Amino acid sequence: MDNVIVVASGKGGTGKSTVCICLSVALVKKGKRVLLIDCDCGMRGLDIMLDIEQDILFDASDAVCGNCTFAEAIYGSRHNKNLFLMAAPFDAENELSPSVFKQLVDSVKTAFDYVIIDSPAGISSGFVTAAAPADRALIVTNAEPTGVRGGLKVRKKLEALGIKNLRLVINRFDRKMFKKLGFYEDLDAVIDAAQTQLIALVPFSIEISVIMQRGAAGLENSSALAVFDRLADRLEGKRVPLLFG
Ligand SMILES: Nc1ncnc2c1ncn2[C@@H]1O[C@H](COP(=O)(O)OP(=O)(O)OP(=O)(O)O)[C@@H](O)[C@H]1O
Ligand SMILES: [Mg+2]
Repeated sequence: MDNVIVVASGKGGTGKSTVCICLSVALVKKGKRVLLIDCDCGMRGLDIMLDIEQDILFDASDAVCGNCTFAEAIYGSRHNKNLFLMAAPFDAENELSPSVFKQLVDSVKTAFDYVIIDSPAGISSGFVTAAAPADRALIVTNAEPTGVRGGLKVRKKLEALGIKNLRLVINRFDRKMFKKLGFYEDLDAVIDAAQTQLIALVPFSIEISVIMQRGAAGLENSSALAVFDRLADRLEGKRVPLLFG
């Protein structure tokens, strides 16, 4: 199975880290063992979003420099058994090269059903590193032209890197706002502009935002997870319909 997934966007703030955590929790709920890797070097945040900031002694750069074993750089989440995190280097100058990061992921991935990689915004070196070990990618956008253009740029870059299995996640979708803004006639127009097949439409949800600020506590029992359950099923190859919020 192609089980290493990079979550990318181009434009910042579209919801990559949120999608990474919600998708991982949904996969764990289905009995999967999931490793989340924060690859937003210098700007990491998944440790805070999982409420394990205080636990992190070693990050990915420590693991490859020999300051610790690979296993010692992997931390269990507080609220979800079978969900693990490897943190990004705290300082930007410790960014890993694509080949070193790929070797790291290749060494640890067999212990997990899925590896989900959170990438930095943009298409510069940090993004190329994040994408290096990936079998497939989720491109996260909001239904607005700047996000979609960023997503399209990322798509081209991922294709150039040889990653062909690409799917679109439209995040923070609010139907009323979408109609009012009128950037696009309908959702099909967004998908056409992004040139990528849609795999999930995630509604704007205060609940998701609040749960993320609380270390993802209670996420597994939240109704907000339903759309990510479907996303997890679709990644597993199940033919379940999209949920339209
Ligand atoms: N579906 C959603 N509904 C409501 N708020 C959301 C949703 N998804 C994300 N957010 C909020 O949007 C903000 C940005 O989300 P997030 O940090 O996940 O984006 P990002 O793409 O990882 O950002 P960056 O490019 O800085 O890494 C956060 O405040 C988050 O809580
Ligand atoms: Mg992020």
